[in-house]
Amino acid sequence: MKAKTDFEELISFVQYSKGQCYVLCDENTFKHCYEVFCQLIALKVQPIVIKAGEAQKNIATCEFIWQKLIDNKADKNACIINLGGGVVSDIGGFVAATYKRGIKYINVPTSLLAMVDAATGGKTGINLGHFKNMIGLIQQPEMVVLHAPFLNTLPKKHLKNGFAEMLKHAILNGKDALNELTLNKDITPQLNEKVILKSLAIKEDIVAQDPQEKGHRKILNFGHTIGHAIEYAAQENGCEILHGEAVAIGMIAALKLSVLKLEFDCNEADLVINFIRSHFSKPAWISANHNKIINAILQDKKNSNQEINMVLLADYGKPVFDVVCTLDEIAKILLEL
Ligand SMILES: NC(=O)c1ccc[n+]([C@@H]2O[C@H](COP(=O)([O-])OP(=O)(O)OC[C@H]3O[C@@H](n4cnc5c(N)ncnc54)[C@H](O)[C@@H]3O)[C@@H](O)[C@H]2O)c1
Ligand SMILES: [Zn+2]
Repeated sequence: MKAKTDFEELISFVQYSKGQCYVLCDENTFKHCYEVFCQLIALKVQPIVIKAGEAQKNIATCEFIWQKLIDNKADKNACIINLGGGVVSDIGGFVAATYKRGIKYINVPTSLLAMVDAATGGKTGINLGHFKNMIGLIQQPEMVVLHAPFLNTLPKKHLKNGFAEMLKHAILNGKDALNELTLNKDITPQLNEKVILKSLAIKEDIVAQDPQEKGHRKILNFGHTIGHAIEYAAQENGCEILHGEAVAIGMIAALKLSVLKLEFDCNEADLVINFIRSHFSKPAWISANHNKIINAILQDKKNSNQEINMVLLADYGKPVFDVVCTLDEIAKILLEL
């Protein structure tokens, strides 16, 4: 299923639902995007508004939304339209997939990260304590509709956050995509619909080959094993780090491990490592928290039998999944970050 760039089908869907479409927003997307969205579809839809931020991605927020649906007597034909960033689409998708054993949901992403990544692919879920995305399921949205002008109100740090996932897609795709994306020093002015769709198409293609992540789709976790562990350690330390910022550091680690384990060309790796470093700095607290990061890696859903399975590169465009790495190898790389 490819993302759409017009609202035609969504409008028909809302009309057909007879008032049973609920628009899930967080407080920021309610403020900046809800009115625009209603104007774009020229229809009235009921909003459900939650607080903004990763800390809301928990069971209490789900209960709040489930309760709102029950209060409104939402039945099996109801639909949730997730108007927001990755937090809204992850929670809204999970709530929809579980309410009355599953109702439909539509993603209208408003952050760059959600446009190029989170809104597509059907992964839904919430965090448990500090563990990211521990509870969830894969359920595809009815449709994804992209409207790049929503980005006009997105804070710049969140543009950079989404850019990290675009970089990941380019790395997985190959040298041409990577050269194109890293051509400009300043990453934000080039973020138009064409560039966004190009990056998203790389993910859509990978997901289409393996929707349930039995094998090939795992390559999308490039940079995420260590990235997620860094997010966990940040929460434990009461520090803030955005998903994309953590993934950027995770990608540097994965590039270095690729040189060590898969004989990936060291100079080629350095080109992208230097590019990442010029945009994303490593927070100072990371150096003092390697143990917490290692412990979090052991909890990662993708590791089995305490083996650390990582996505590494034989070359740009040639990712290899389930490369077993030892804790010693990872600890060594953390020291080199
Ligand atoms: N399901 C997946 O496949 C997948 C993939 C990648 C990331 N994720 C998840 O996505 C989440 C991160 O997504 P995110 O970076 O979009 O975070 P987010 O949803 O918290 O959005 C970032 C911030 O921007 C605000 N915002 C969003 N759109 C806005 C707009 N147009 N104008 C003004 N403010 C706006 C939000 O309110 C929030 O404060 C994480 O929880 C991550 O685990 C999921
Ligand atoms: Zn990600």
